[in-house]
Amino acid sequence: MSEEIKTTEQTVSKPAAKKRIFSGVQPSGLLTIGNYIGAIRNWKTLSSEYDCIYCVVDEHAITVRQVPADLRRRTYETLAIYIACGLSPEDNVLFVQSHVHQHAELSWILGCYTMFGELSRMTQFKDKSAKNADNINAGLFTYPVLMAADILLYQADLVPVGLDQKQHLELARVIAERFNGVYGDTFVVPDGYFPKVGMKINSLADPTKKMSKSDTNPNGYVAILDDPDTIIRKFRRAVTDSDTEVRYGEGKDGINNLMTIYSAFTGRTYDEIEAEFEGKGYGDFKNAVGETVADGLRPVREEFDRLMKDKAYLEGVMKDGAAKASNVAVRTLSKVQRKLGFVQVK
Ligand code: TYM
Repeated sequence: MSEEIKTTEQTVSKPAAKKRIFSGVQPSGLLTIGNYIGAIRNWKTLSSEYDCIYCVVDEHAITVRQVPADLRRRTYETLAIYIACGLSPEDNVLFVQSHVHQHAELSWILGCYTMFGELSRMTQFKDKSAKNADNINAGLFTYPVLMAADILLYQADLVPVGLDQKQHLELARVIAERFNGVYGDTFVVPDGYFPKVGMKINSLADPTKKMSKSDTNPNGYVAILDDPDTIIRKFRRAVTDSDTEVRYGEGKDGINNLMTIYSAFTGRTYDEIEAEFEGKGYGDFKNAVGETVADGLRPVREEFDRLMKDKAYLEGVMKDGAAKASNVAVRTLSKVQRKLGFVQVK
């Protein structure tokens, strides 16, 4: 059953009861269990209930210098990870951002409805400019506008992301409301979806900081594609504290982080985890976390290896996904351009 939603010009077909989801990951490094727990895992859970569009956001990745061959390879890999994590291309729209040119076009327009001061307040901009002091480019600054364009282009109702994207998402809402305020209802104002457990997974080397795929210390993150021995070794080396009790609490950032990861992979509550490891030391706990994560990711890794051998299949998914995404993107952009007063000739 499909309900016809009237836009001013065209008729967009959207399933009656299903709301739409949009989200994406940058192909800028090895995807970590932070990306998995904070985002991709939840995309899969939401996938049956929503009309889902998941994007490999390659245009976002170039705000930081990328080696072209690496970017190309990671774009395939990121798509393969989506599929290996259970997001089937039949049930979800999976595509690459640069294959749908409307993202960049809408981004320009929305940039004219975003204030310099708003972008200056973005904490990720401040962090990334500190880390890339020799390359504080305008793209790094306007990055949240492109992210807003990604979301608003698809009239997404819900955006499942980790905590680090909350500020960007809030800005997307402000931009949508501002535009709607001037031109009348144009964009759906999106809500964020943050997982109850794991919206911020921290580094294993410094548990006060977010786990990041661009970390130069490989012991800080666990990549989705790390082999089981590496995963177990990284968890064994995880920084904890001088206490010995496996308990969630203040001043125990390392243990809290490991408990969160363990909880995300086993579904157990913190109380259950504390009971399970009562009387046991950190060593036993770290081993258990490492083995559980290695086991949990094994099927993902195996499916990933299989998919990466079939580039033609992945390219087919990209093409098909881009065509489906474009159908929606063309309509939103055209609606926006008409509202702005751009002349449209048929
Ligand atoms: P990116 O590529 O940095 O991360 C992808 C997703 O993973 C989440 N995440 C984490 N969650 C918990 N703990 C962590 N340590 C952790 N690290 C990353 C992120 O919150 C994100 O959900 N700007 C976005 C990509 C993007 C996007 C979009 C997302 C571009 N356009 C539109 C949603 C909608 C980014 O850089 O994510």
